[in-house]
Amino acid sequence: MLAVIGGSGLTQLASLAETRREIVRTPYGDPSGVLTFGRIGRQEVVFLPRHGHGHTIPPHRVNYRANLWALVKAAGATGIISVASVGGIRADLGPGSLAVPHQIIDYTWGRPHTFFDGGEAPVVHVDFTEPYDRALRERLLCAADAIDIEMAGTAVYAATQGPRLESAAEIERLARDGADVVGMTGMPEAGLARELEIPYAAICAVANWAAGRGDSKTAIRFDQLEAVLAEALGRVRRVIEHLCAAGF
Ligand code: HPA
Repeated sequence: MLAVIGGSGLTQLASLAETRREIVRTPYGDPSGVLTFGRIGRQEVVFLPRHGHGHTIPPHRVNYRANLWALVKAAGATGIISVASVGGIRADLGPGSLAVPHQIIDYTWGRPHTFFDGGEAPVVHVDFTEPYDRALRERLLCAADAIDIEMAGTAVYAATQGPRLESAAEIERLARDGADVVGMTGMPEAGLARELEIPYAAICAVANWAAGRGDSKTAIRFDQLEAVLAEALGRVRRVIEHLCAAGF
């Protein structure tokens, strides 16, 4: 069972032949919405929109623990593909670009970010040297390549707190830190997936130049991003479809 977590602009997977929906409650509270089960090609897929079906949950209020727990422990997912919209920092990652990040830097704060929160169980420190699953990343890149969709194979993802966008100076700092794209939901999601020992990879769709990058020396206009993002997410859907066609 492959889980897909949809981000901004991806609240459903059109190609999913839906079989059932399930409301799941978890020890960590409610996930972002009902889980939608179905099939893409021969592949069983469970889909969850990260920000809720009506896109009402801001990044800092997403119940990441409940989402991960629901997908892995309740639905039985054996791999997770996260789709996320991001701002582009690196020069080759302008609006409309796609990237599969290989590294992440966490700038978020105050989000419940671990399943190992004390109590009876011994302390656990998971390895996070490679935050994304290498094999799953490779498979995404191969799927994209097979259908001639350009997707950067490496990118450092900076996870910011949001919901506001960054200042130009903040983006300068992220760039100095080595970040290539910036988004608000990559953490604690990736860390929690690792705690559950589930292969996790992300596809980032660049919606805009990050503050002060590219030609966006002035304010970022979100109303102008929607068309760019919608087109990019169409390509993301095709990559996921191709990955599923042969069975994940
Ligand atoms: N910054 C942070 N998150 C984002 C951006 C951005 O510029 N664009 C889309 N998600």
